[in-house]
Amino acid sequence: MKKEKFDSFFKIHSENVDNANGQGFWKLSDEIVKNYLLEIIKNRNNVTIVDFGGGTGRWAKILDGYLTNSHIIIIDLSKDMLGVAAAKKETGDYKNQISLINADIANVQELDDGIADYIISTYNPLSFVDNPQDVINEAYRIVKQNGKVAITTQAYYNALYSKIFNYQAEPQELLRIQKDKKLVWNDFVPETWQLSQEDMENMFGLAGFKNIESRGIACVTQPQDEDWDQTNVKIGKLSKKLNSDQEFFDTVLQLELAVGKDQQAVNRGMNIMTIGEK
Ligand SMILES: C[S@@+](CC[C@H](N)C(=O)[O-])C[C@H]1O[C@@H](n2cnc3c(N)ncnc32)[C@H](O)[C@@H]1O
Repeated sequence: MKKEKFDSFFKIHSENVDNANGQGFWKLSDEIVKNYLLEIIKNRNNVTIVDFGGGTGRWAKILDGYLTNSHIIIIDLSKDMLGVAAAKKETGDYKNQISLINADIANVQELDDGIADYIISTYNPLSFVDNPQDVINEAYRIVKQNGKVAITTQAYYNALYSKIFNYQAEPQELLRIQKDKKLVWNDFVPETWQLSQEDMENMFGLAGFKNIESRGIACVTQPQDEDWDQTNVKIGKLSKKLNSDQEFFDTVLQLELAVGKDQQAVNRGMNIMTIGEK
C-alpha cells in the first residue's frame, strides 16, 4: 500500500512539477532554494554534485548553468520522476555530465565513499523515507572530507500551524503529529516526516558533520490552498501578486533570504535546509 501510494503520487507529480514555478509562490520558493544552494556550492569547476531525490532533474538543469567540467548525479526511487529527468538529458543541452541512478537514498550502493564535493536534497525527499538518520549517514559516507551537504525537510512547527490554521485538524491527529513527527496531508500523499531545526541538526551531528547550520525556506510567506493544485491551474492571491509585481517579488525574496538565515527564525520555515561539512 505504501509503495503504491508513493508510486501514484510521484507519477502525477512528475507530470506537473516542472511547470509549478508559473505559480508565484513556487517561483519565490525556488529562488530562495537557488540562493542558498549557490552560497553553499562555492567551487563550480570540476566538481561532483550528488542530488538526493533529484526527481525530474529540475536542480541539475538549474545548476548546470553555473558549473563547468562537472558531474551531477541524480539519485531517485521513482521511475516516473527519473523518466522525466532522462528525457531532459536526451535533449543533450547540458554543459556538464549528468548521470541518473534509480536507488533509495538511504542506501546508494552504486556510489563509493567520499566521491562527492557536494550533496544536495531539495523539496524534502527526506520527509518520504523510512528512517531519515540513515539518509544523513549515507550522505556523510558519500561526500568528500571538507565537502558540504544540504538536505531539506518539511518542517514540524509549520506543519502544526498549517494543520490547525488551514485544516482545523482533529485533536487526536494533532497529538499524533506531536508524538510521531509524521503526518498525512491528504489521501493522495504518502505519510511524511515533519522535523524541526533541532531534529535535523541532531541527526547531522550524530552522522559526524561539523559546522552545522540551517535555513528556513519561506519563513514570512505561506503557500495558499491554490498553490497546492497539482495541475497548476488555480492561482492564489499571493501567487498572482508575486507573478505580476516584480518589485513586490524582489522585496519579499530579500526579506525571505534575511529571515531564513536568522537562526531564531528558521523553525518558522515551511521547509528547513540543514547544512553540514564533513
Ligand atoms: C517533492 S520531490 C522533489 C524532487 C526534486 N528534489 C525537486 O526539488 O524538484 C521528492 C523526490 O524524492 C524522491 N524520493 C522520495 N523518497 C526517496 C527515497 N527513499 N530514495 C530516493 N528518492 C526518494 C521522490 O521520488 C521525488 O522525486
